[in-house]
Amino acid sequence: MTQNEREDVRRSVETRLGQAWALFQEVQDYVGETPGVAAGVPDFHQRALEIVPDPQQQAADALQRVSLSQIAQLVANCSLCALGSLRTHAVPGEGVANARLMVIGEGPGAEEDRTGRPFVGKAGKYLDSWLTAIGLDRSTNVFIANIVKCRPPENRDPLPQEAQACIPYLKRQIALVKPDGILCVGKVAAHFLLGREDALHALRGTIHRFEGLPVVVTYHPAAVLRNLQLRGSVWEDLKRTANVLNLPVPNSGR
Ligand code: URA
Repeated sequence: MTQNEREDVRRSVETRLGQAWALFQEVQDYVGETPGVAAGVPDFHQRALEIVPDPQQQAADALQRVSLSQIAQLVANCSLCALGSLRTHAVPGEGVANARLMVIGEGPGAEEDRTGRPFVGKAGKYLDSWLTAIGLDRSTNVFIANIVKCRPPENRDPLPQEAQACIPYLKRQIALVKPDGILCVGKVAAHFLLGREDALHALRGTIHRFEGLPVVVTYHPAAVLRNLQLRGSVWEDLKRTANVLNLPVPNSGR
């Protein structure tokens, strides 16, 4: 059943519960009893949610109790959206548990789908060089994850319903890792994390907030590899990131 079909069924259950309640009131009036009125009208919306549960909400609630390694297992078996049936490997993310910086991309590409690891292709190697430039490293003080954990076909942008299904995993990862800051690479990651539709250049230059954490937005490394003129802007954003983390700010560009 799709999310929309489930909503329809839930609404219909809620209506029928309301109708049954009205009938019950009529019967009570007829026989001259009024205990139901004294007890108040039940919450039919809540009852309908219990009768027709929302699997995405149930999964999000269950996540509040899981560890980073359990998230990786849940992601490996996830079928909350259609991307799950297309993957070779899910890519939960990787890095250290108490990382200083969390890097967030949009979703796995071909190489990531093949290996199950984030940012391991050409763009990933370039991203590693950005991190090195500000004294960070994914094996020491960084955690890298994506908005969606399974590769969208032909590397298309994740659909809103795919991001919505997957983002609770990322939120739980952020809550567990507790980074000092977040670096969002690319427009898609920034849009889904911050709920902002602005163009990337408009999102740069400001420290945003996600659940209280500072967020710097920069270009996606793949976009910079396609247009090397963006390197100067990325360098400014990396220095901003170093500042947010109280790291020494390097003064030479790359
Ligand atoms: N691009 C992304 O956004 N994420 C990856 O993991 C790889 C490429």
